[in-house]
Amino acid sequence: MSKIFISNWKMNPQSFSEAEELLKSALKFKASNIKIVLCPPFVWLRDLILKSKNKIEFGAQNMFFEEKGAFTGEISYKMLKNIGVKYVILGHSERRNIFGEINEMISKKVFAAISNNLVPILCVGENLNIRKKGKKIFEKFVLSQLEFSLGKLIQNKIFNKEIIIAYEPVWAISGSGLGIADTPENAKNMISLIKNFLFKNGFKKFLVLYGGSLNSSNVLNFFSQKEIDGGLVGSASVNPDEFSKMIQILNKGLKNK
Ligand code: PGA
Repeated sequence: MSKIFISNWKMNPQSFSEAEELLKSALKFKASNIKIVLCPPFVWLRDLILKSKNKIEFGAQNMFFEEKGAFTGEISYKMLKNIGVKYVILGHSERRNIFGEINEMISKKVFAAISNNLVPILCVGENLNIRKKGKKIFEKFVLSQLEFSLGKLIQNKIFNKEIIIAYEPVWAISGSGLGIADTPENAKNMISLIKNFLFKNGFKKFLVLYGGSLNSSNVLNFFSQKEIDGGLVGSASVNPDEFSKMIQILNKGLKNK
């Protein structure tokens, strides 16, 4: 199965013409061995989807768990579905840390996404303080984030729908963390641990990705680990040259794997 490259544009770019440039660089690779998903800000999503003419898939960076109503500033799963969005990033550490999202809220979002046929990309990962406490502690922390964020799916025994988990150590993220990637070795171990958890709980269709300071000089080291199903890539993917370079490196490097 081909690996998946999810591009999280965060609050970038500032103009639609720049957003179109990024779409163009992604469309060059529509026949790639790597599956590409673009997650632009809400304001660019609909027009980019129309421009892409179904040649590429899109995700949103967040959503609310109610369908409609008095929720100023929020975007519903129904709105996303209606414009052709397929994926949605949920529980990103920037949402958890800057906007106070907690596991309970994330669990409702994951449940609402799945119930409405959107594929959640659930982010989990430890911060630097927890990481410094050692492997046993940070592993336990990530598993508890998973358990609580998937709580409503587990309670309702929804195990047959596609879900994506992104292991993103908070400190490894560029911009909001230190910007130093984790080691492929630790990412691989954490991903195996997460897969084991999902399997043991009964989940049947899942992919587990790594995210945090991926760029053209390290992306192949992560993607070539067989346990790692792909990556969630932020800053480096909003630079059209760096984006193209990463996809080229992956297409070439993973060809014979
Ligand atoms: P980064 O971000 O690639 O800029 O570190 C990844 C993410 O936050 O999803």
